[in-house]
Amino acid sequence: MGTRPIKKQAPRGDLAGHDTEAPDSLRFPKDFVWGAATSAHQIEGGNTNSDWWDFEHQAGSGCAESSGDACDSYSRWRQDLAVVADIGLTSYRFSLEWSRIEPTEGEWSLAALDHYRRICASCREVGIEPTVTFHHFTNPRWFASQGGWEAPQSPALFARFCEKAGRSLGDLIGRACTVNEPNMVALIGYLLGEFPPGRKDDTEAFVTVTKNLVEAHRRAVEALRAGPGVYPIGLALSMSEVQVVPGGEEFAALAREMMEDIYLRELGGDDFVGVQSYSRTYIGPQGPVDPPRGTRLTAMGYEYWPQAAEAAIRRAATATGRPVIVTENGIATNDDAERVEYVSEALRGVHRCLEDGIDVRGYFYWSLLDNFEWAHGFGPHFGLVSVDRSTFARRPKPSARWFGEVARRRELIPAAQTSSGLRNERRAGPEIRSTVGEESSANAGRQSRPPD
Ligand code: BGC
Repeated sequence: MGTRPIKKQAPRGDLAGHDTEAPDSLRFPKDFVWGAATSAHQIEGGNTNSDWWDFEHQAGSGCAESSGDACDSYSRWRQDLAVVADIGLTSYRFSLEWSRIEPTEGEWSLAALDHYRRICASCREVGIEPTVTFHHFTNPRWFASQGGWEAPQSPALFARFCEKAGRSLGDLIGRACTVNEPNMVALIGYLLGEFPPGRKDDTEAFVTVTKNLVEAHRRAVEALRAGPGVYPIGLALSMSEVQVVPGGEEFAALAREMMEDIYLRELGGDDFVGVQSYSRTYIGPQGPVDPPRGTRLTAMGYEYWPQAAEAAIRRAATATGRPVIVTENGIATNDDAERVEYVSEALRGVHRCLEDGIDVRGYFYWSLLDNFEWAHGFGPHFGLVSVDRSTFARRPKPSARWFGEVARRRELIPAAQTSSGLRNERRAGPEIRSTVGEESSANAGRQSRPPD
């Protein structure tokens, strides 16, 4: 699958009041954020104190393999940051591992907080805005053993963690996402059984967990706003355009309500809404069904549907009236040219939203690295950068060079037009060996703010 040439189009209007630059090309606003995203458990390695680690090691959990050393990013985060800077992106989205920061209830690890503080400070040093996610699927073991998100105290426990971490890092944070895809935590953990705690069809728990996650977000926003630093705060919601198969109307309405609207209704006071969308969902009378036979699929088995980001932006903007950021979008594929094709189409959709006056502020590709794809293990390759599974060497793929150049130029360009000339390249480039933020400057910018 090659990349299709991108035709230049005349914009249909103002780009949400931003600087539109050349009128005859697919240009993006000057202050548009270009980023790549990761999450702690998927890249750090050795997250032995989380409920996911337990789940991966449980017989019968259905997990393909353990996260193990993942990408060894707890040690190699400087290389990751060097890659982000080298590619030419303006923001790096990563998550805090709650189980490292609060290993036992009420006990706070200054060393873990310092670790994340060093990442934030090093981002700043190299001109990259740190976008920090406070919860990305994993819970500390102690939290899970108290009932996890079903427990009535769960929103308060999460808010306390946000308050502590926000107090330590807030002066360096560029943007915060409270909870990553709370709707997936509830759906996959309590109805599908493929995330911890591995429950199937537990509708009652699904409803309780959904309500608690909505409240956890609200309390987290309050806790972070009360702390140091002034930065935009939002939720990162998984969204999926629903294709109703005849007879599926009622189920589709219920799915929209429980998966999206119940969250969107609460977000009117947030600084932005983070949308994450990869594909769309077909819903019949009994629930989700496979897409029609012959549909093009990605390596995850989803329909190849790069319009997903555009659909999510439009729906979130209409429902909330808030600025929108695509906090995740991407494709799992071993064909890097297909990645460029997918992202090009997705960015065309983002651009159409801008032309229609929707306030879209940024696009984060998922993911920076080929990493641990939860129950699927290391099989699916979402990364702009490959990671050697035995040496951990990071090698940017041609798509990384292309995406970086799009970001630098703020213009959608075909892969063939990149200065590095990616036309026939399919494989990752040389290993990136540089790092940023040496250990000696670890406390750069630290205004010692230990938690209570
Ligand atoms: C999640 C990521 C995941 C990605 C691809 C998103 O739902 O936030 O953790 O790796 O999708 O499946």
